[in-house]
Amino acid sequence: MSITPQAASARNREICQLAPIIPVLVVHDVSHARPLAEALVRGGLPVLEVTLRTPVALDVIREMAKVEGGVVGAGTLVTPDDVAAAVNAGAQFGVSPGATDLLLDTCEDIGLPLLAGAASASEAMRLLERGYDMLKFFPAEASGGVPTLKAVGAPLPQISFCPTGGVSPSNAASYLSLPNVVCAGGSWVAPSDLVNSGQWGKIEALARAASQLGL
Ligand code: 3PG
Repeated sequence: MSITPQAASARNREICQLAPIIPVLVVHDVSHARPLAEALVRGGLPVLEVTLRTPVALDVIREMAKVEGGVVGAGTLVTPDDVAAAVNAGAQFGVSPGATDLLLDTCEDIGLPLLAGAASASEAMRLLERGYDMLKFFPAEASGGVPTLKAVGAPLPQISFCPTGGVSPSNAASYLSLPNVVCAGGSWVAPSDLVNSGQWGKIEALARAASQLGL
């Protein structure tokens, strides 16, 4: 079933409002998927972005989608094949670093709410023209970070963002204090050394701290 840009944005806004931080996950071992997702959800971060950067990413989405309380999305969607594969694996939303008409057409046709990336006023305005008012701001820090988002928010207050890329515990609260930021994405809550060594308790603690940011 297809989805309009307006409905996709509304759904993504709801998803982004579930927690201040969306963990950006790079998972190399399918057996890590369930315990990792469970630790993050237990820690208060129910929205998970699995990046399609490893050969097992789709299986990871499949496993994580079974975790109660989780909302699992697929990141780094670039091609129509990525979109189809993500939906087949059970992704509830998609994330892309930018946006192309082909990618937007594909996500709308297949019914996947896409959190499309923008890094400039023109990119954001183009997506707004199409009906998207909930966007990813990427790469956040490299694109000017908090001052840029604050400046963009003055003339374009109707667009909300999920900044991702360089967001950390030290700057996340500043992003979250902006009226045009709903949540932020970051990889620090699931560092590869802790994931690879199965230290789920430590990841849960990182998630719990992140879940309190911006409150
Ligand atoms: C990424 O590209 O991996 C995401 O934007 C996360 O970036 P981060 O590692 O800076 O949080």
